[in-house]
Amino acid sequence: MEKRTSFSSKFGMLAAAVGSAVGLGNIWKFPYEAGANGGGAFLVVYLICVLVLGFPALITELSIGRMAKTNSLDACGKVSGRKGWNFIGYMGVFSAFMVMCFYFVVAGWSLEYICQTFASSTFRDMDASSLETLFNTFAYSSRRPYLWLILFIIATAIIVQLGVQKGIEKGSKILMPMLFLIIVILAIYVIFLPNNTEGYQFYLNFDISKITPSVILSALGQSFFSLSLGLGTILIYGSYMNQGNVVGTSLQIALLDTLIAVFAGFVIFPAVFAYGIAPTEGPSLAFIALPAVFAQMPGGTFVSLMFFSLLTIGALTSTISLLEVLTASFADKFHISRQRSNIIATMLVIIGSCLCCYSLTDGSLFNFCGKPLFSWFEDITSDYLLPLGGMFMAIMLGWAVSKEKLRTAMTDFGMKPWFFSIYLVLVRFVTPTAILLIMLRQSGIL
Ligand code: TRP
Repeated sequence: MEKRTSFSSKFGMLAAAVGSAVGLGNIWKFPYEAGANGGGAFLVVYLICVLVLGFPALITELSIGRMAKTNSLDACGKVSGRKGWNFIGYMGVFSAFMVMCFYFVVAGWSLEYICQTFASSTFRDMDASSLETLFNTFAYSSRRPYLWLILFIIATAIIVQLGVQKGIEKGSKILMPMLFLIIVILAIYVIFLPNNTEGYQFYLNFDISKITPSVILSALGQSFFSLSLGLGTILIYGSYMNQGNVVGTSLQIALLDTLIAVFAGFVIFPAVFAYGIAPTEGPSLAFIALPAVFAQMPGGTFVSLMFFSLLTIGALTSTISLLEVLTASFADKFHISRQRSNIIATMLVIIGSCLCCYSLTDGSLFNFCGKPLFSWFEDITSDYLLPLGGMFMAIMLGWAVSKEKLRTAMTDFGMKPWFFSIYLVLVRFVTPTAILLIMLRQSGIL
């Protein structure tokens, strides 16, 4: 087995973790979930989920990784001293695979849209319905999505192969500041669009009657998805972390990730309303509505290029972290080199992503109960597997590790004693009960 690598600096670790968290989840998934789940109501529930459940879950997952210093398959067993808890790691590796299967498809779409922008004036003067046709023809009935997703997977695999330090750390250091800059410019840009007030109202108006169990479940799932929680990504990064404070690091990840998601909303909703497009468009929102906006904007080609580059950069730093979960697990489990393990993981993901992509085409075999495999994978992971993963990690750390051992470990990781008392209540009671209640309520049992 190769020697365990670790991050060379606190900033490298933070940049990589934020890079993992910020991605399609913030820019593609958050706005369409918010649009479909009542705008302002979703935003409020989402922020509460991040603060009360997501932030403690980040601390929990980072700490498990840092205590275990091993791959995500064996981490929970090692920390609790009981192998039985390793089921969390296996569930996580399975979830990571499922997330990648649909994630790479969307990442591929973003590559296509960079090229569409380059194919000069493609979006120029097109209205929403012709852009919808453009998207449908490309995504559902051409071969290009397969090419793009395979290209994206190979690019990810190469970066993962370069190793933790060289690949992930260096990449994130260059990519993250660019990402921030582009989204801030866009958010300022849309302030000056005419007729955008309704968009701000939709996004910021809190209507309590719109909060239903399914809105709450979607917000919970979205918060875990966006923070990269519940499947071992953050755990793996925690295992490479030798210094720094877990609470501070978690706070920074949660703040930066949430800021970008909220900012993405400030870009998308004012713009969408300004041009009379439905916020409930669904997963295609970013790919139909935004080009329609760019088409009518002065300088739209440039803005479009910036936007889709942003989406691609964000997606890449996230896919790196997802593939890392599989690569590190297979390497440690089967005692093979990282290179071989990376190749196996890459092959599996190429097959899974192509099937998800194929499931979106008309009359595809992979359409079950009127829902394509793509959407099954998206809903099962983000609404159920990730929150359940987070819940089991909380139960393991809160109950299977003695209070004193946990206190010592947490103090070592920089947690203040007064915060430990709050954290203990959160990890033992609040996280497990809240997640369980939300699931039971959604499934109609409660
Ligand atoms: N959080 C990323 C995003 O918002 C996606 C992601 C990366 C992820 N690693 C994860 C989601 C682990 C869930 C679990 O795009």
